[in-house]
Amino acid sequence: MHLYRGDVMLKIVLLGAPGSGKGTQSLKLVAEYGVPQVSTGDLLRHAVAEQTELGLKAKAAMDAGELVSDDIVVGMIRERLDQPDAENGFILDGFPRSQAQAAALDVLLSRLDRPLQRVVHLEVDNEEIVQRLMSRGRADDNEETIRNRLAVFQEQTEPLVQYYKDQGLLVAVKGVGDVDEIFARIKAALDAA
Ligand code: AP5
Repeated sequence: MHLYRGDVMLKIVLLGAPGSGKGTQSLKLVAEYGVPQVSTGDLLRHAVAEQTELGLKAKAAMDAGELVSDDIVVGMIRERLDQPDAENGFILDGFPRSQAQAAALDVLLSRLDRPLQRVVHLEVDNEEIVQRLMSRGRADDNEETIRNRLAVFQEQTEPLVQYYKDQGLLVAVKGVGDVDEIFARIKAALDAA
């Protein structure tokens, strides 16, 4: 995406079900565009590992595959986007995940004068996701929690597809197949934007 490389910003959201490849593709985008990945899942896991007050509050929800409260994650994002490395852009991975989070992000980015350029929706069907996550083995990758995460995604996060369509920001990318091919599809979608 020639437009956004080098001195120009990349400000995007990667939206997709658990296991759709948001983290995998974020790393490739970071290498290509030189802006940080901002993953609420990683920030929360770090807080849990450090046993901070926030981590202790978040742990039960994460273990059950439920969403951590909007207050906690919005606060984390606000702090993270205030750091200097996010001034020239960011890849939001796993945030926003609810209507309230999307509305809070709009307010925050408008205050920072850093509006979103695109929301990339990675599309992968549920059975492929269950297979992927069962073979990964993270703490929340047991079948019961995976299925609950998928249900929570469908109920609370999927409505954001329409929300961002209405804002003219959404691009849909098929998230199945070779990782590099998917990355090429994402780049093509961003270039075409
Ligand atoms: P989070 O860490 O965001 O987890 P998630 O959304 O469930 O996503 P994953 O990390 O499981 O998947 P991914 O889409 O990043 O895919 P990945 O690249 O890793 O959130 C964890 C928890 O934190 C939530 O359940 C919630 O409790 C809490 N939380 C986080 N954000 C929150 C928020 N905003 N609000 C409230 N609560 C929040 O790939 C998955 C696997 O598939 C890997 O093994 C990978 O190697 C493999 N893979 C990737 N691409 C391919 C491919 N093309 N083909 C085959 N395998 C592939």
